[in-house]
Amino acid sequence: MSRIIGRCVGETSLSEVSFISKEAPQMGEYVSLTYDEKNVLGMIESLFRGSVSINDEIYDPKAIEKIREIEGDDYYIRGKVKILGDINDNLRIPRTPAPPGTEVKAADSEILREIFKIEGTGLRLGNLISQDQVEVEVDINKMVSRHLAILAMTGAGKSNTVAVVVDGLLKYNGCVVIFDMHSEYTDIDFKNGKLEAVEAQINPLYMSCSEIKRLARIPENAYLQDRYFREACKIARKEANEANIRGRDFVKTMKTVLEGWSNEEKFRGQDLKTQDKKTIIDVLNKIEDLEERYNQILNLSTGNILSKLKLNSANVIDLGSVDESAAEVIVSHVLRNALEQRKNFIRKEDRDKKEILSHPVFFVLEEAHILAPKSRSPRSKYWISRIAREGRKFGLGIALVSQSPKSLDPDSLSQANNMIILRLVEPQDQRHVQTASENLSDDLVSQLPSLNIGEAVVLGLMTRIPTLVKIDDFGAGKSSGGDINIVGEWEKSEETKKRNIEDQKQEFMETGGDY
Ligand SMILES: Nc1ncnc2c1ncn2[C@@H]1O[C@H](COP(=O)(O)OP(=O)(O)O)[C@@H](O)[C@H]1O
Ligand SMILES: [Mg+2]
Repeated sequence: MSRIIGRCVGETSLSEVSFISKEAPQMGEYVSLTYDEKNVLGMIESLFRGSVSINDEIYDPKAIEKIREIEGDDYYIRGKVKILGDINDNLRIPRTPAPPGTEVKAADSEILREIFKIEGTGLRLGNLISQDQVEVEVDINKMVSRHLAILAMTGAGKSNTVAVVVDGLLKYNGCVVIFDMHSEYTDIDFKNGKLEAVEAQINPLYMSCSEIKRLARIPENAYLQDRYFREACKIARKEANEANIRGRDFVKTMKTVLEGWSNEEKFRGQDLKTQDKKTIIDVLNKIEDLEERYNQILNLSTGNILSKLKLNSANVIDLGSVDESAAEVIVSHVLRNALEQRKNFIRKEDRDKKEILSHPVFFVLEEAHILAPKSRSPRSKYWISRIAREGRKFGLGIALVSQSPKSLDPDSLSQANNMIILRLVEPQDQRHVQTASENLSDDLVSQLPSLNIGEAVVLGLMTRIPTLVKIDDFGAGKSSGGDINIVGEWEKSEETKKRNIEDQKQEFMETGGDY
């Protein structure tokens, strides 16, 4: 017989009921209500503790003290239960509300285990916060094809969650690409697969002239600049194809070509007027800026990034040492090519080519609010939103990881049909997340600030019902993203200093002060 928590009071509805009880159940605890041959599952979404005798009309603390002396700890619990569905009817919402007075009972753990068990395609996230003997799995197929957002303030456990999710995908031979903005994942020890470090380099030969032109920030309608730029780009490309230049020489070659023209009298047989020379110098200046900003990622000696991705591996692209604009370029390059190649693969156009993405991929984007910001429009944002919209058809999924949901592109966020939200305090962030997800009720939102590290609200298509989960601690082989032990570090350096002084003293004694 399950523990009776309390009884329904007041008007009940199809979506929620209020109850009164004597003992406090836990927030997020699952309950069941039996009536009209139904066994209805619900989740406790809010709790208040009140006292009949000590109400807010007593203004004298002494009077309150007296009442407490007489009545003891006399209080009641009032709570709200969100109705999740009829257990006997595949979790469909019942058509009749529970009669007032209905018993609210703790849900049976066996039933909960069944609800959170996903046969064949399950990924273990952790255990229920309220009933920790119940394991929580989510459906991988739904998670990858309908995208995921992992949102929380810094230090709440996003990267740990990423590690748990990625390792869970590797168990099924998954192919995951992590855009690692802070070099957090480069030495992680996955239990179910390998870590493949992928260099953050693009071969300009795999980029179109227009793509490179965008990097040089030459405006779309600058036709004169476009003419010289394209010509120089073509020459550099030819040199690269003939293996006359390699490594970082692509941009340098373009510069040399343009410098040459700026000193000539004619270009393609036509006289170069002062205005033309000015245009060439303009392009040259832009190429110099491009060199400064992006030369660290443009490399003729590197292969196609996508052909390096391995199955059963977490392919980590370390973006820790490149600046934000370079990171945006790499992300958009990879996503664009992945989408194109997967389209061709599904449409059978390029099936036989060796260098083609022949399997689904899950992309993890750390710092998603930088790569797909609300207020700017870098190319990475464009391709992230394209994959968010179209990826499902082509087996490409994305996970947007962010500590600032309010600065994240709302379109992409609303395409994430699955969410893992850990502690989130800022009201603006909460509102933003709520706008993007219809499943997130006010009561669940009000829980977000009080979650502990690693505790999360899990919602969306990947789970049958929304739930509060204590995410597994990824533990031993963990990333280096956790907090630094500041005092420890200082002590260490103090120790080192002392040791150095001791060493010097020793030496001084030994040499008899004879330097
Ligand atoms: N589920 C968890 N269980 C136990 N400890 C956790 C859990 N999630 C995170 N932590 C700890 O909290 C710290 C911050 O976690 P991290 O994942 O780096 O947060 P974020 O990426 O959100 O900044 C780490 O030291 C980590 O070990
Ligand atoms: Mg992190």
